[in-house]
Amino acid sequence: MNHKVAFNFADGKTTFFEVRPNEILLDAALRSGINIPLDCREGVCGTCKGRCESGSYTQDYVDEETLSAEDLTQRAMLSCQTRVQSDASFYFDFDSTLCSAGGTSVMTGIVTGVQQVSETTAILHIDASANAQRLDFLPGQYARLTVPGTGEVRSYSFANRPNDANQLQFLIRLLPDGAMSNYLRDRCEAGQTIEFEAPFGAFYLRQVERPLVMVAGGTGLSAFLGMLDELGERGGCGQPVHLYYGVTNARDLCEVARIEAYAQRIEGFTHEIVVMNPAPQWQGKTGLIPDHLPLAFLDENAFDMYLCGPPPMVEAIRTWLTDSRITDYQLYFEKFADSNSTQKTA
Ligand code: FES
Repeated sequence: MNHKVAFNFADGKTTFFEVRPNEILLDAALRSGINIPLDCREGVCGTCKGRCESGSYTQDYVDEETLSAEDLTQRAMLSCQTRVQSDASFYFDFDSTLCSAGGTSVMTGIVTGVQQVSETTAILHIDASANAQRLDFLPGQYARLTVPGTGEVRSYSFANRPNDANQLQFLIRLLPDGAMSNYLRDRCEAGQTIEFEAPFGAFYLRQVERPLVMVAGGTGLSAFLGMLDELGERGGCGQPVHLYYGVTNARDLCEVARIEAYAQRIEGFTHEIVVMNPAPQWQGKTGLIPDHLPLAFLDENAFDMYLCGPPPMVEAIRTWLTDSRITDYQLYFEKFADSNSTQKTA
């Protein structure tokens, strides 16, 4: 017998559909035209995450980096691994519009340049204007790029806002030996074609109604550059916006002038840079980002916090919020594996 399932979304919309016996929830949703954001389909990336509000279900596989034991206790689930055992309802922390946009598209772009922006980081510029339609993504989402000549796929957040000219940027960490890093260092030339699929992810800038705290670790900055470009275009959001940008070494720092310039374009924008292992001449903030979060402000004010960076950074800040007994906030986060940037979890 089929089960009736309801999906509730952050914008208050609800969609109903039927799930066949033993069917994967994600497959049933897609069959019904509900394009839940997804990426790996293997219980690893976390893109399809939701929470069960009623009913019973099982999950085939859940990576422990993706959902913690506490997340599971709170009935967090991955649509691509869930099978319902009864009628059920689920909540997703993103708007229903994200599921009706028609899913992802495979596109071809032309490399227009690689800009080394720090010793360890580059921005890949892609011209996708040959595609007839504007690539519609939400600032904070990401694309899966096929590394030319290898067939390898890597995921990177857009480092700029969507635009009519389909000019795209991706902030990429240059690893000593990585498929994309080697391509960018050794073989990449302007004019080469590159394939990508987009958009992916449920990490994107929501309607801003209270102070915004952004926390970027390393190349997690990329997603925030897209969000801040968007806010800069609008002149702000009517709320203070504060960016914390943490790196391991000062030589990893990039786009600092661009970050500083947001203060001219976004009313109420401030930022702080934190270096974990500073050289003796470094005069700025040091240590870990939680050491510098404004406890009194966050304790007294409701706020939205966006985190994007390596899993230890995201977990350290979640733990700090819990240990500090801060309660009045909404948290959105995306983890990525810095080693190869193929896995993103939201
Ligand atoms: S698509 Fe479900 S965890 Fe990646």
